Amino acid sequence: MSKLKLINSLENYQSAYQHSIKNPESFWDEIAQSFTWQKPYSQVLRWNFETPSIEWFYDGELNITENCLDRHLASKGDQIAFVFEPNDPKSEGKSYTYKALHQAVQNMAQVLLNQGVQKGDRVCIYMGMVPELAIALLACARIGAIHSVIFGGFSAQAISDRLIDASAEFIITQDGAFRGNKTIPLKPVIDEALLQCPFVKKVMVLGHANNPISMHKDRDAWLESELLAVGNAEVKPVSMQAEDPLFILYTSGSTGKPKGVVHTCGGYMVWAQYTFEQVFQYQDNELHFCTADIGWITGHSYIVYGPLLAGAKSLLFEGIPTYPEADRFWEIVDKHQVDILYTAPTAIRSLMGFGSEPFKHKSLKSLKKLGTVGEPINEEAWQWYKTQVGQNHCPIVDTWWQTETGGVLISNLAGITPERAAWATLPLPGIQPVLVNEQGQIQTEVNPETGYVHGNLCIQFPWPGMIRTTYGDHERCKNNYFATYPGLYFTGDGAYRDASGNYRITGRVDDVLNVSGHRIGTAEVENAINSHLGVVESAVVGYPHEIKGQGIYAFVICNDTLHSKVNIAQDINATITQAIGPIAKADKIQIVSGLPKTRSGKIMRRILRKIAEGELQNLGDTTTLLDPNVVDAILKDRL
Ligand code: PRX
Repeated sequence: MSKLKLINSLENYQSAYQHSIKNPESFWDEIAQSFTWQKPYSQVLRWNFETPSIEWFYDGELNITENCLDRHLASKGDQIAFVFEPNDPKSEGKSYTYKALHQAVQNMAQVLLNQGVQKGDRVCIYMGMVPELAIALLACARIGAIHSVIFGGFSAQAISDRLIDASAEFIITQDGAFRGNKTIPLKPVIDEALLQCPFVKKVMVLGHANNPISMHKDRDAWLESELLAVGNAEVKPVSMQAEDPLFILYTSGSTGKPKGVVHTCGGYMVWAQYTFEQVFQYQDNELHFCTADIGWITGHSYIVYGPLLAGAKSLLFEGIPTYPEADRFWEIVDKHQVDILYTAPTAIRSLMGFGSEPFKHKSLKSLKKLGTVGEPINEEAWQWYKTQVGQNHCPIVDTWWQTETGGVLISNLAGITPERAAWATLPLPGIQPVLVNEQGQIQTEVNPETGYVHGNLCIQFPWPGMIRTTYGDHERCKNNYFATYPGLYFTGDGAYRDASGNYRITGRVDDVLNVSGHRIGTAEVENAINSHLGVVESAVVGYPHEIKGQGIYAFVICNDTLHSKVNIAQDINATITQAIGPIAKADKIQIVSGLPKTRSGKIMRRILRKIAEGELQNLGDTTTLLDPNVVDAILKDRL
């Protein structure tokens, strides 16, 4: 039996939650038993948050693709696994049954083997949203290679940084990707990235967009001809230790370059299926449409792994919500009779701007459940989602989680536990959140006036899907997540909790921005800006943005050599695009003559943040500044 027992009432949730807290090992053992293990585990959990060392299902062996595919063949072989909706609505879509997907994954796995990929090798995947992307992930997992997907919007520089960090010798890419009315070159970007990565042995290229590319002899191969050559391959799922890495996914932190979050085979598998089924209350035959890109964790867990583990139907959409028109999501919902729609507040806010016109001649009656993820959802957007999209009959799950958490940690369960606009509500079974103050003291008292307690959100007990390490640098993992408040995993988010235990996430409390649901480190953007020859120094902060949630505001000191000030902002954005990608471009660039610094030379970001947010009345204490006049000068030219 691959289907888990769904929580079916608030009382049932409460008893499951209590069980998971009082006896986590028996709780998870019961759930993990429903998976296919090639060798049973001997211990459910061994852990400490000091080192940190977290091992779930110790000693067990499995292959996640056997659980995603093989175990469904007998009962669901002819059922649809993936529905593919191409960018151009006039192009023909595709769908894959579990049987067809099983075969496609084996074929791709055989190609990887033929190209010399071995268990434990890192394979970088840089593709658009096509079924072959999902197949590539699964093919890696089938043979025990560690996939590291890089979002198609990242630049050559960002790719080579990641390739070097992961010492990835193999790449799967495609000539180009379709996004709206654009064709995004992918292989040419890889070629540029590889100028700095001579250690890369093989590049496999999917022909998709017909854009001109060059192929390097001996290094590059067309995927189609390789696939054709393997015919109907049979590749057995290799046996993996539960704690072997399954994938690396790079994400931004408050310092330095992006870090490679490592997820493991056993724990991630259990968490992905458990959270998918419970949060969305997935019922057989429902079609799940998660609009994220597989280049981010949401796509990994809720387009590919979660749904396939659950034997579900998952829709994979290549395009964007506004192409060819702003009714594209609704068009897709009606065309494929989507049951569950899972998207981001930024998409909801941008679609809200088109009013009710895109809903003309749309039914949306098939929708049963809605979900949101990636950033706090404002009440107005929540209400619009509820009434306009869900037509008041669909529960909305507000799912809070992170790349590091592997899957949802705090959310209502669709139609089962109460929903509340802008509140993620209750922790999933197994999740033990605490709120701490700056000194790390756990805050328990609810303020009688507000009805809430506020603090930095930490988790005090491990869950199966949590980060195990940052690739190649365990110390970094410890310092980033486990050192701020010893004994706790620190999320980087702030939150409120009410007396009933519901959480409302307020957003990052560190120097990480959330721009259109994309996580961007201010340090990364500053490094990019500072690499511009006309720049002396910069400071980057976030400010509220109507559509994006947060916008990027850069304060930049220029030298007056190379550039005229007219073009410098454009030029700086071109530098950011080159170093990171267009997603990190600054919305506002203010050229300043100085930055507010303390006497010890530290930039006072608190002041800059207030200026960017337009909170000019109360800038706080500026007396400790080296030169308080700097603030007046910045205020005068504020954008
Ligand atoms: O600040 C939180 C915000 O997104 C961050 C995690 O970003 P990332 O690792 O890119 O993963 C995004 C998809 C899971 C969190 O630290 N965040 C995510 N979901 C929510 C959220 N903030 C408020 N409400 C949410 N539902």
